[in-house]
Amino acid sequence: MQRLVNKRVLLGVSGGIAAYKSAELVRRLKDAGAEVRVVMTRGAREFITPLTLQALSGNPVHGDLLDPNAEAAMGHIELARWADLILVAPTTADLMARLAQGRGDDLLTTLVLATDAELALAPAMNQAMWRDPATQANLQLLLERGFKVFGPAAGEQACGDIGPGRMLEPADIAARAADCFSYGALSGVHVLINAGPTREAIDPVRYISNHSSGKMGFALAEAAVEAGARVTLVAGPVTLPTPGRVTRVDVVSAEEMLSACEQALPADIFIASAAVADYRPARVAESKLKKDPASGEGFTLSMVRNPDILATLASHPQRPWCVGFAAETDRLLEYASDKLQRKNLDLIIANDVSQPGIGFNSDENAVTLIDRALQQHHLPCASKQKLARQIIAHIASRFSGHSE
Ligand code: PMT
Repeated sequence: MQRLVNKRVLLGVSGGIAAYKSAELVRRLKDAGAEVRVVMTRGAREFITPLTLQALSGNPVHGDLLDPNAEAAMGHIELARWADLILVAPTTADLMARLAQGRGDDLLTTLVLATDAELALAPAMNQAMWRDPATQANLQLLLERGFKVFGPAAGEQACGDIGPGRMLEPADIAARAADCFSYGALSGVHVLINAGPTREAIDPVRYISNHSSGKMGFALAEAAVEAGARVTLVAGPVTLPTPGRVTRVDVVSAEEMLSACEQALPADIFIASAAVADYRPARVAESKLKKDPASGEGFTLSMVRNPDILATLASHPQRPWCVGFAAETDRLLEYASDKLQRKNLDLIIANDVSQPGIGFNSDENAVTLIDRALQQHHLPCASKQKLARQIIAHIASRFSGHSE
């Protein structure tokens, strides 16, 4: 099962004999659907070559914090932001100690400090080193700080000792990495999401639409599934594959989208990420409109208002907990707060679509969440997948508070 689809895993490899298993781990992570980049410590390069990991991951291997060429290609802060998960396998006793101290004296430790991704370690060391009180104290500290620790397993070791300290097998580590993304906060909850643009026909070959790609809404659907929700995704015309375990309903126009959303009720939560056309042509020509040679240059299209899907569901007898998006080019927070109140929403996600690289049809986004009390919570620029997980976690905590 491809449980790591769309996930970006930064695999840290430190210098222990188990580093040879990192090659197999890269393959397992990729088999599960992850995009993998590798960072090696200097010690790791004594056990396995960067070339092996580069060939398997399909990406250049990162190693040096002070390499201007590497920084120009993908700087360490960019790399830290890129990752959804930093997984260090193997993690030596020395690296555990340096992480516990919060040191940033090489690329890998710096990335761990700079990231807000999930952090997981797969320790591998001699059994006496693992049992040593210093290592155990470091382990406790790292667990308290939210690191996930996979293993170690017990058994025969490379040095001939028997005991705990063996790195888990790559398949086991990959499965646990996937588990980092399923957290059950919306278990048993039905989440209805709309996504993408709508198309409003002018004639059989022309329509009015917008630049929404559906990426934000599809990422939200995937994150909601990961959080344990049953998800219905009503999608406008987009070319994205359906995320696993999502029920998808394809529509074209705003009227069809409203009808599909109403049919999907009852839902506990409605997230309106779709860019719905506010207007549609008053009449759809039955055959292709021709240029009128008598009328000169001009052409006037008469438009009528489309239904507001979000406002309709927010005032529905089976009203879900309603989350809207506000795509604005100016006075972002003011207009978003106004929409929250006017449409009677529980939460609005203010999306500044004037910024290049975020918003419509981009891979990244940055948003501010505003609740009914007009409290703001900013989520800085990240991939839409990562942002979606943060949004879903926020919604899950607010929704559970509301239903208690
Ligand atoms: O799809 P992507 O390329 O990933 O881009 C994501 C996005 C920029 C489209 C998305 O993040 C976003 O901002 N979606 C809302 C776009 C929008 O139409 O915003 P709005 O401010 O015009 O509408 C406010 C809210 O009312 C939205 O939740 C919208 O879905 C809803 N609405 C608007 C009009 C209408 N007739 N019916 C509605 O339900």
